[in-house]
Amino acid sequence: MSTFSAKLIRWQKLHGRNNLPWQNTRDPYAIWVSEIMLQQTQVTTVIPYYLRFLQRFPNIGSLAAGTVDEVLALWSGLGYYSRGRNLHRAARLIAEDQEGIFPRDLEVIQQLPGVGRSTAAAIAVFAYGERSAILDGNVKRVFARCFGVDGYPGERKNEILLWRKAEELLPEKSEKSRIEIYTQALMDLGATVCTRGKPKCMACPLQQDCIALRDDRVDRLPAPRPHRPLPEKETILLMLMKQGKVLLGKRPATGIWGGLWCLPEMPVSEDAIAYCTRHFGMTVEPLAHMPPLDHTFTHFRLRIHPRPLQVVSYPAAIKTPWQDEAMWITLDDALKAAIPAPVRKLILRHGHPQSGQLPFEKQL
Ligand code: ADE
Ligand code: SF4
Repeated sequence: MSTFSAKLIRWQKLHGRNNLPWQNTRDPYAIWVSEIMLQQTQVTTVIPYYLRFLQRFPNIGSLAAGTVDEVLALWSGLGYYSRGRNLHRAARLIAEDQEGIFPRDLEVIQQLPGVGRSTAAAIAVFAYGERSAILDGNVKRVFARCFGVDGYPGERKNEILLWRKAEELLPEKSEKSRIEIYTQALMDLGATVCTRGKPKCMACPLQQDCIALRDDRVDRLPAPRPHRPLPEKETILLMLMKQGKVLLGKRPATGIWGGLWCLPEMPVSEDAIAYCTRHFGMTVEPLAHMPPLDHTFTHFRLRIHPRPLQVVSYPAAIKTPWQDEAMWITLDDALKAAIPAPVRKLILRHGHPQSGQLPFEKQL
């Protein structure tokens, strides 16, 4: 009878992923960047962003010397921009306080902005071969099914139980050199076999042990988050067009889309044309109607009403209460700037009304 870890390790060698761009390195910086990008984003999406990021910022020093704007521009489209801001802030902290050397100690790694317990453990495993346990969303799902853990895994008491499991199941110390393979196996199994929908239990190395499979509860575990409906908000985003250029303003550092370039926002309770006159001193005319766009944030849903408007006359300097900086920019250049995903969609729809294609994907 082989152990849990032995089964996973054997499976990983045959069926796991061994050639991802952040594997086969011991550089803690390169591993850190990958783990941050992979926190909320799938491997296939991350790869091109990761390669561009490491090309531009190959080490902590270059990242610390770069601007947060440039980091956010490279992050544009990945979402969860606080990850990019935290990465940059952490690089500056390491450059200032630790002579640019990535910390070695798990506790210190975990203190970095944007790095939680599981991410810190993953970095320590892959960079230093430390024997420490990970527990990200995928691993929670594997454990909840395999050990038949009822209840929402994000709930405190279940989390404590799952962390204890994660620690207990680590390969023995004598298998130290295998902690990397074991950890990668857990990640890969969760991503490719024990998936949220339609898991491939017949290809799973844990099928003999799995409580959920035995009890035919695979599709009911893990239990979903107890749902409170997300509040819904509405807003207008102005697409002010002047000589083929659109007006973008820089959002304040805090709040949604913090620090990103965005279309001017205004309340749905007001009339867009009157608003432009009153706040910007502009005369505008309506352009072709665009349908609303829904976007879900962690804590609320936002229905965005785009208002494309042609600017007929305008004051020399644009100043609005919410923006320090504003710029007129071509649609092509706007797509290269640090803009939120919904703004990207609106600009693409406006610029290419016929096509549902996203040209940005091809640039990657
Ligand atoms: N998800 C989180 N970390 C990962 C990694 N190192 N490889 C693949 N998927 C991951
Ligand atoms: Fe997941 Fe199925 Fe494997 Fe159980 S047998 S761990 S449910 S893939």
